[in-house]
Amino acid sequence: MPNDSTQESGLPTFPFPRTDPFGPPPEYARLRAEEPISKVTLFNGAKAWLITRYEDACRLLADPRISSVQSAEGYPVITPNEVALLGITTFVSMDPPEHTAHRRLLIPEFTVKRVRELRPAIQQTVDDLIDRMIAQGPPVDLVPALSLALPALVICQILGVPYADREFFHTRTHLMVRGSTAEETGAAAAELMEYVRTLVADKRKNPTDDLLGRLLKNAAKPGASDGDTPRLSEDDVVNIAMLLLGAGYETTANMLTLGVLTLLRRPDDRAALCAEPELFPSAVQELLRWLSIADTATRRVVKADIELDGHVLRAGEGVIVANAAANRDDRMFPDADRLDIRRDARQHLAFGYGPHQCLGQHLGAAELEIALSTLFRRLPSLRLAVPLEELHTQDAIALCAVTELPVAW
Ligand code: HEM
Repeated sequence: MPNDSTQESGLPTFPFPRTDPFGPPPEYARLRAEEPISKVTLFNGAKAWLITRYEDACRLLADPRISSVQSAEGYPVITPNEVALLGITTFVSMDPPEHTAHRRLLIPEFTVKRVRELRPAIQQTVDDLIDRMIAQGPPVDLVPALSLALPALVICQILGVPYADREFFHTRTHLMVRGSTAEETGAAAAELMEYVRTLVADKRKNPTDDLLGRLLKNAAKPGASDGDTPRLSEDDVVNIAMLLLGAGYETTANMLTLGVLTLLRRPDDRAALCAEPELFPSAVQELLRWLSIADTATRRVVKADIELDGHVLRAGEGVIVANAAANRDDRMFPDADRLDIRRDARQHLAFGYGPHQCLGQHLGAAELEIALSTLFRRLPSLRLAVPLEELHTQDAIALCAVTELPVAW
């Protein structure tokens, strides 16, 4: 068996620099061609495997010998300030069978059918937000006005946050991820958690027919802990609410901002979409593939040695599946660097793969489809209000983002 641990000096440092703030680091293309399974050094000196080809990415993400447990020794941490959301543990960081049992409770809430039922409410929310932008008049920063507001309001709807509290919920969520100081961010997160705790306690007393209400009903069922169904405590329900908020908020917001920006920079694609709005679903999947904004969300730690293409990934070693690299693999997506809104990109890995594949993918895609199609239909003269070079990009580590998008029409 080959032994890779003997060749560890001079490993490149991960994450790699980007030359184009909106595209993947060029090093991905080189590695994919020359060393698709290679090792990198992280900021803290730890080493991890980096996977850059589509086929290897799928094989690994579906392999039961890898673990998602973030507190496990060897799990790759890629930035110093990366802390689990308020230190809570949810099923994202569990392995089957515990993961399967928890995830099963939420699957019915995010099916294609359930998302179809939510579409009119999502459409209404998008229309209301665009009405507000129009009333305010240009220029408007699209990030708070639409990109962040939409997923926050949609999650409110799903969780069953009363209308009167939605503004509070939205402003705290915004501060939690975009606060200017650690104190501000921490205070907003604590307030939000406290709010959700009260909401859950309230729903226990006065049952409601929404996601939180249904989880609480399950938790209260006598014998609910028997068999495969985990019995949830009130704290578990609070953690699930925070997880859904954390997982669906910035991801959808960043995709929406970068999706709008990409179409503003590509007048031919925009014109094609306006002429044939039925192309929006495939365009959204292609944008998800091409932008791959959650590139390093797919990280794991090896539980038992895995032999892959002549390499041995040893138990306890970290693995980073760079989904942005896998999504540009020409073997899977011919001419992968080209954005082609007519391509069938549904097999992309921007939502991950295997047991942890994004639970909210149909919801996220519906929000993107509805927001992009409505925005370009209602504001046909939409344009950037500042030169492209003036946009602030967050140096994309885990999530690729533009922090402000001033637009006019
Ligand atoms: C998991 C991306 C939207 C809820 C994931 C994963 C990725 C991802 C890559 C896999 C993580 C892993 O393998 O460890 C995205 C992107 C989105 C998006 C790019 C943009 C539209 C959403 C939405 C929700 C959501 C709207 C729900 C409100 C979740 C949950 C998981 C997850 C709960 C964990 C699933 C599990 O561990 O079983 N997402 N996501 N996501 N996502 Fe999303």
